[in-house]
Amino acid sequence: MEKIILTGDRPTGQLHVGHYVGSLRRRVELQNSGEYDKIFIMTADAQALTDNFDNPDKIRKNIMEVALDYLSVGLDPAKSTLFIQSQIPELTELTFYYMNLVTVSRLQRNPTVKSEIQMRNFEASIPVGFLCYPISQAADITAFKATTVPVGDDQLPMIEQTREIVRKFNSVYDEVLVEPDALLPENAACMRLPGIDGKAKMSKSLGNCIYLADDPKEVEKKIMSMYTDPLHIQVSDPGHVEGNAVFTYLDAFCKPEHFERYLPDYANLDELKAHYTRGGLGDVKIKRFLNKVMQEELEPIRARRKEYEKDMAAVYEILKAGSETARAAAAQTLDEVKKAMKIDYFNGQSLI
Ligand code: TRP
Repeated sequence: MEKIILTGDRPTGQLHVGHYVGSLRRRVELQNSGEYDKIFIMTADAQALTDNFDNPDKIRKNIMEVALDYLSVGLDPAKSTLFIQSQIPELTELTFYYMNLVTVSRLQRNPTVKSEIQMRNFEASIPVGFLCYPISQAADITAFKATTVPVGDDQLPMIEQTREIVRKFNSVYDEVLVEPDALLPENAACMRLPGIDGKAKMSKSLGNCIYLADDPKEVEKKIMSMYTDPLHIQVSDPGHVEGNAVFTYLDAFCKPEHFERYLPDYANLDELKAHYTRGGLGDVKIKRFLNKVMQEELEPIRARRKEYEKDMAAVYEILKAGSETARAAAAQTLDEVKKAMKIDYFNGQSLI
């Protein structure tokens, strides 16, 4: 069986370092591993509209931003198909047929949907489109017969629902769809990188993100203002590494060779943590180290972005061509789905 990746992001803002360690970095590694037959990376604008339907400008504005973020982290249009969800009508069509295979109560029990309903105060007035977005996500994944979906753990309920839909479809109709597996980030820090204020989530509205597009000065300023341990007042005080954003970021970004280069007094992160916990290690020193580590990782991303920014027409063409390629793949699956559902009236076997 072919190994196929499908994943994507909602274009509700620029992508930040949380997206990077949570998924983007891994996607590029998988792309360059050569182990996958096809890779589809989707800008999920239709899904973004399910809770931003009244703000289409926001979504439109971020289409090119997200494309630049993708290209600048190293997603390569020669290896990965970058496309826009709304430009593939086959996805909407699949969603409609899958709706028959899912109950309302099952959607309401989806933990991610549940918490989003609370967050957005939808309660008694949930838009149907929003409630159904897990079904549309199942269409995204199955249209490409994806075997692997690299995502954060908040997306696990979506993958689970997709698997249920696949099993139901295949047992009611015919073995057409493929059950995907989620691929999670490598460690807990990457799973959910906190904001620079130490809050559990990076979000534009909280103003606590480091964006991939931030310049070196901004990144440094944000790192130097980062939340650490409120009980670590004097350098000599014992410090806490748990819940300390600087250490969480180090867990996500730092590699052993960074110590050789930037902080040779320590062999690795465990030693640095031990010193901090004992006391005698100041916040400024660990922040400066983190700054060096992150600047090193972000520099090639910024350089690539600058190159692509010079030729936005080429970026536009990448999305357009990618959307055409993606559409052809989804159309093939939709044909098989319609055949299995016996609604392929004008193809092959005559109706009369
Ligand atoms: N729900 C994902 C997010 O919030 C975006 C998304 C839409 C997605 N369709 C997908 C991710 C299919 C993986 C597979 O970012």
